[in-house]
Amino acid sequence: MADRPVILVVDDDKNTRDGLQRALQRHYDVVTAESSDAALALLAGGTEADVLLSDLRMPGADGLSLLRRVNAQYPRTVCILLTAYGSVETAVEAMKQGAYDFLTKPINLDHLDMLVARALKSRDLEKKVETLESQLNEKFGMESIIGESSAMRQVFEIIRQTAPTQASVLIQGASGTGKELVAQAIHRLSTRSKGPFVAVHCAALSPTLLESELFGHEKGAFTGATAQRKGRFEMADGGTLFLDEVSEIDPSIQVKLLRVLEERTFERVGGEETIETDIRLIAATNRDLRAYVKEGKFREDLFFRLNVVDILLPPLSERAGDIPLLTDRFLKEYCGRNGKRIEGLTPDAVNLLTAYSWPGNVRELRNAVEKMVVLSRSERLTARDVPANIRDAVRGHAGILGRVPALMTGSLADTERRKIMAVLEKNGGNRTRAADELGISRRTLHRKLREYRELQADGVPADEELRT
Ligand SMILES: Nc1ncnc2c1ncn2[C@@H]1O[C@H](COP(=O)(O)OP(=O)(O)OP(=O)(O)O)[C@@H](O)[C@H]1O
Ligand SMILES: [Mg+2]
Repeated sequence: MADRPVILVVDDDKNTRDGLQRALQRHYDVVTAESSDAALALLAGGTEADVLLSDLRMPGADGLSLLRRVNAQYPRTVCILLTAYGSVETAVEAMKQGAYDFLTKPINLDHLDMLVARALKSRDLEKKVETLESQLNEKFGMESIIGESSAMRQVFEIIRQTAPTQASVLIQGASGTGKELVAQAIHRLSTRSKGPFVAVHCAALSPTLLESELFGHEKGAFTGATAQRKGRFEMADGGTLFLDEVSEIDPSIQVKLLRVLEERTFERVGGEETIETDIRLIAATNRDLRAYVKEGKFREDLFFRLNVVDILLPPLSERAGDIPLLTDRFLKEYCGRNGKRIEGLTPDAVNLLTAYSWPGNVRELRNAVEKMVVLSRSERLTARDVPANIRDAVRGHAGILGRVPALMTGSLADTERRKIMAVLEKNGGNRTRAADELGISRRTLHRKLREYRELQADGVPADEELRT
């Protein structure tokens, strides 16, 4: 038989304690305490109460303060407060503070029975949800990465497949596309998740500094090396080493890196001792590393070592379908942080955000949402709340062809249009160069541009906010 639930009864009045104990002991294990302090002592001593049934008014710490302590320290205990008839206001306060419910004295035993049973059931459900959630997180571990586009789904699939292996991973993507986020997810989902995740930003350091940062140094190895220092390879032992902006590593260090990857051993700068290290390497770059190899800036052998699995994060403009989802997540996050209550965005505002090209990718979107949340005074963000630079850019964009039909937003046709417009803009309106870059003929480009203009002329209703 399963363990009986434990009810902790707290009341300064002995008659009430005894009465409640008698009423409850048929179905439950009942423990009693005559004060808040006595109750806390019991809990601290290891009594695992499923339900706390406490009087509100007691000498010493009252029921409300007990409730607060229990909620904070023993979140699995459900609290029900007992109040004298007429003190409903305090009871309401108790509910606000997190009590499950309250009972007014004199206590109706049927009511008590029902309430305790219901409280236990709700707590069991909560427990179940928690377990399921944590199982899901363990399984996926990618809850911090938002995206439903097919591009992101592919990324999730690769993460899922490669995380449990020891393979080196190369993550490529423009700035702000989420490379570090992906690296962390791979670490969390790997067998090394209990080990350290150590990140090194390679571009920020001179070759000499980077070398000692990676491999550490012995005391006196160079001027200023006043003590021995462990490098990141040592710190990441048993975990994951994340080399960000790996394309910027100086060729002299590239050789050393290759050796560590091949032999899993290295020496500290100025040291003789050979140190073994057990790391999984994840590297990231916002450059075309293959092109670097062709240009002779990056060693080909190192490239192949790093690039066992490669993950490509497309720019946000190529997965515009994810923009509303990301916006929503960031909106909730910044509302929480700033204590604001904003329900969402008007369709016009969403259209603007979706039509923008986001050169700074997800990071830029995150910053834009933060700005909107901080500055907004209304419950719903409108196009007017969208930062001016974004509105202007979208309007300028649409200006080349006239207005962009809002109805196309989010469709494949829209993605194509946005891409074409971005490339056209990049090439200063030069159609030959744009067609070249897009890999389509000039005629096709002309035809597409004509179609867009005709759609425009067909009088697709204009979205007024775009003009503001
Ligand atoms: N798919 C995503 N879902 C949720 N947040 C994201 C996503 N992609 C990026 N972010 C957020 O955007 C910001 C930038 O992400 P991150 O630092 O991982 O980008 P990065 O590719 O490493 O950029 P950089 O090349 O500039 O270092 C972070 O705040 C991150 O949380
Ligand atoms: Mg980064």
